[in-house]
Amino acid sequence: MTDPAQDLTTLVDAARADIRACATIEQLEQVRVHLLGKKGVITEQLKSLGAMDAETRKSAGARINEAKSSVAAALDARRAQLDAEQLAAQLAGDTLDVTLPGRGQSIGGLHPITRVRRRIEQIFRGAGFAIADGPEIEDDWHNFEALNIPANHPARAMHDTFYFPDGRLLRTHTSPVQIRVLQQQPPPVRVIVPGRVYRMDSDMTHTPMFHQVEGLVIDEGITFANLKAVLHGFMQELFEKEVKMRLRPSYFPFTEPSAEVDISCVACGGSGCRVCKTTGWLEVAGCGVVHPNVLRAVNVDPERYTGFAFGMGIDRLTMLRYNVGDIRMYFENDLRFLRQFA
Ligand code: DAH
Repeated sequence: MTDPAQDLTTLVDAARADIRACATIEQLEQVRVHLLGKKGVITEQLKSLGAMDAETRKSAGARINEAKSSVAAALDARRAQLDAEQLAAQLAGDTLDVTLPGRGQSIGGLHPITRVRRRIEQIFRGAGFAIADGPEIEDDWHNFEALNIPANHPARAMHDTFYFPDGRLLRTHTSPVQIRVLQQQPPPVRVIVPGRVYRMDSDMTHTPMFHQVEGLVIDEGITFANLKAVLHGFMQELFEKEVKMRLRPSYFPFTEPSAEVDISCVACGGSGCRVCKTTGWLEVAGCGVVHPNVLRAVNVDPERYTGFAFGMGIDRLTMLRYNVGDIRMYFENDLRFLRQFA
């Protein structure tokens, strides 16, 4: 007959070896069930106690329970070891070197038209102007009527307007914001209005959407001389050099008198080149003294207040500043083109 105590020792040694051999938590769980589960080998030993007499049961029970706790302790220890190994492996795998340089990073840049717009804003802000804006979808009254362009006025034909079925339209210039500003605030007014405008027009120097900046100054005692000084100062700041400026009589319904603004060619300095079509001059803006009818439309007294307005194309100024003569390139968003300005 075999010695039950010897059997138990063998069993515990075998169990320890099995536990040590477990390489994963799953294997360890299988071993645990095999040893301590409902039908496990040690559990079976405990069940056998019932068939013993009281004396034998007492000593055998103590030994089996001891074996059970030592196996359980071995299982716990191995379990803790495997958990730690698993965690260490996971940490090693998840390591992130935050000191590595980023991959494929490229620094963007502002669009050249945005750069010129911001520059224009900065120059006028420095001269005490506020920046205003208005809706790109306008009504006929703000875009035309209040600017002294009544229905059937020939000037409407120059605007090639995009109309909506309900009669509203895409603003053809930033001038309607003159009206909106004067509706909102009484003089004195000193604003510029950069923004998008729309006309049915498309060729090398025209796109259906383009950018203008409007200027408006209304106060007591404002004259044409103020207009000339502001515009000339602005042009020199924008192009960062001495430029000559001249005003040619012109016509706009919302100004009287009106003028076209020319500056000496920024490409050749005035001697004549391709950019200025050999004239030495570049036309860069329209301007004039605000028409009394415009002031009346917004209930400003033209006997007391006078002012000037001007409008210029931001895209055209951008083309001149960067010497790229095809306006369409600015809107194709070809990165090879845009990167040159970054
Ligand atoms: N609104 C005119 C245009 O789009 C530009 C213009 C000319 C604006 C003279 C003005 C101005 O404020 O005084 O053609």
